[in-house]
This record gives sequence, structure tokens and C-alpha cells, in this order.
Amino acid sequence: MIQIRVATAADRSSIVSLVVWAGLVPTGLDWRRFLVACDGEWIVGCVQVRVHHDGRELSSMVVAQTHRHRGIASRLVNALLAWEVGDLYLLCAERLRNFYARFGFVEVDGAELPEMLRRKRAAGRFFGLPVICMRRFPSDASR
Ligand SMILES: CC(C)(COP(=O)(O)OP(=O)(O)OC[C@H]1O[C@@H](n2cnc3c(N)ncnc32)[C@H](O)[C@@H]1OP(=O)(O)O)[C@@H](O)C(=O)NCCC(=O)NCCS
Repeated sequence: MIQIRVATAADRSSIVSLVVWAGLVPTGLDWRRFLVACDGEWIVGCVQVRVHHDGRELSSMVVAQTHRHRGIASRLVNALLAWEVGDLYLLCAERLRNFYARFGFVEVDGAELPEMLRRKRAAGRFFGLPVICMRRFPSDASR
């Protein structure tokens, strides 16, 4: 059975391995900001909130290849949104636009982006990656 929980210091190397194997950038991996998905003693998924000076970012979302398409990423996002109730941004590949839209994220562009995400998106595009930015502002939904 898969369990979602807050990470501990002991999960640090598993988080780094997941992120590296998935080909995501392995910087800023502060285990205190992570939720993990566990299959018994194995860490099979992770996601974190990165804190920038001008915004917070859902980041480092990975599920192990052996455990994909079972809804684990969806459970991680739902748990993260319960844990992190404020405004959130994320960068993702275009192919994941519909996945994140299910959780209330909408695509945004240009001046609306926190500076750090603008830079990261530009770097991704420089290397030919079709990266988009999305945001979820709970206060928008209540208007
Ligand atoms: C993206 C990722 C985290 C999804 O994990 P997962 O546990 O398989 O996701 P879920 O089972 O909750 O997916 C639910 C739905 O999201 C969509 N989805 C998930 N991965 C997708 C992908 N690679 N491409 C397109 N749609 C995808 C599908 O509609 C999927 O439904 P399905 O399983 O019936 O096909 C996983 O594929 C992964 O680790 N990829 C490598 C790292 C990465 O790209 N991370 C995202 C950084 S923003």
C-alpha cells in the first residue's frame, strides 16, 4: 500500500536519487520541504515546495518508473495542496498541462511570473525544452 507522508532527513538520499534518475535539476532539494510516497520502506515518489523571495513553487515532482500511472503523483499533489494552502506556481513540460489543470492550475505568462521562474523557464527554452508556467491562486477561486 502506498502511503504519502512528510519527508524526514533519512529520506534525503532517496529524494536525490529519484530526482536525478528522472533528469530533473537536483539543486535546492531541502528534505524539510518534501512530501514523499512510500511503498513499504521504499520511497517511490516525491514533491516539494520551493520558496523563492517572490513566490512559492511546486517542484521536484517524481514518481519511480516502476510505480507510474497508478495515481501516485495525483495523491502527492492533493496532499501538497492540503499542506501548502497558499498561492503556488510551477514549471512543467507542455504535456503535463492537463494533469496540473485538474488541480486548479492555469497557465500564465510573462510579467505575472516570479523572477526565479521566469529565469528557469528561459533557461529551459534555451535548451529546447517546451516548458510552461502555471499558477494556482486559491483566492481567485473564491471571487
Ligand atoms: C509526471 C509524473 C510525476 C506522473 O506520475 P504518475 O504517478 O504516473 O501520475 P498519475 O498516475 O497520478 O497520473 C495521472 C494522469 O496524469 C497524466 N500524466 C501522467 N504522466 C504523464 C505524462 N508523462 N505525459 C502525459 N500525461 C501524463 C495522465 O493523464 C495520467 O493518467 P494515466 O495514468 O491514466 O495515463 C511521472 O511520470 C514522472 O515522474 N515523470 C518524470 C519526472 C517529471 O516529468 N516530473 C514532472 C515535473 S513538473
